[in-house]
Amino acid sequence: MPKQEKYLTMTVLMTPDMANFSGHVHGGSLLKLLDQVAYACAAKYCKSYVVTAALDQVFFRQQVHVGELVTFMAHVNHVGRSSMEIGIKVVAENLRTHEKRHTTSCYFTMVALDENGKTIEVQCLTLETEREKRQFAAAEIRKKLRQDSLEKIRALNNDITEEEL
Ligand SMILES: CC(C)(COP(=O)(O)OP(=O)(O)OC[C@H]1O[C@@H](n2cnc3c(N)ncnc32)[C@H](O)[C@@H]1OP(=O)(O)O)[C@@H](O)C(=O)NCCC(=O)NCCS
Repeated sequence: MPKQEKYLTMTVLMTPDMANFSGHVHGGSLLKLLDQVAYACAAKYCKSYVVTAALDQVFFRQQVHVGELVTFMAHVNHVGRSSMEIGIKVVAENLRTHEKRHTTSCYFTMVALDENGKTIEVQCLTLETEREKRQFAAAEIRKKLRQDSLEKIRALNNDITEEEL
């Protein structure tokens, strides 16, 4: 069986056009790059077009500075029928001191679509290491939490029409 394409790494230099008013890298600039990395990782894994369905637990742990070299490490943590959870860890490197900092983590849910925009089944994920088994189990917990919270909020808004939401 061919090896599954579960990992993707992308490195980008933080340039002045990515800065916010304080001179640090804008969260929105990072989110755009994160989305591109999640897209590439999921599309490479399932060999089809994918869309972003959800983004969970974006944790901006530390600020990223203009001039730093930022590496996005993405991994397919979990696969459902058509959805994939992509976990991304972001590490910023100071090019003068070589100091590396873990600045951001997040989880994207990407869904595979065919050329007509219909969801399609993606290949099952082979769990090869203890770490991958733990990541899969953690992703299942996040999926359940997301579904539970959506149901609870829907129940709260039961008597409200879509337009009023
Ligand atoms: C994501 C999308 C394809 C889901 O369509 P849908 O009709 O709800 O499809 P389904 O109910 O069959 O769900 C498909 C999968 O998406 C998952 N999903 C649907 N809504 C979700 C949500 N809010 N959060 C996380 N996962 C979700 C389902 O769990 C399911 O996973 P599974 O197949 O592994 O079990 C659709 O909502 C969509 O096209 N959204 C717009 C995407 C977009 O524009 N993204 C930004 C630009 S890329």
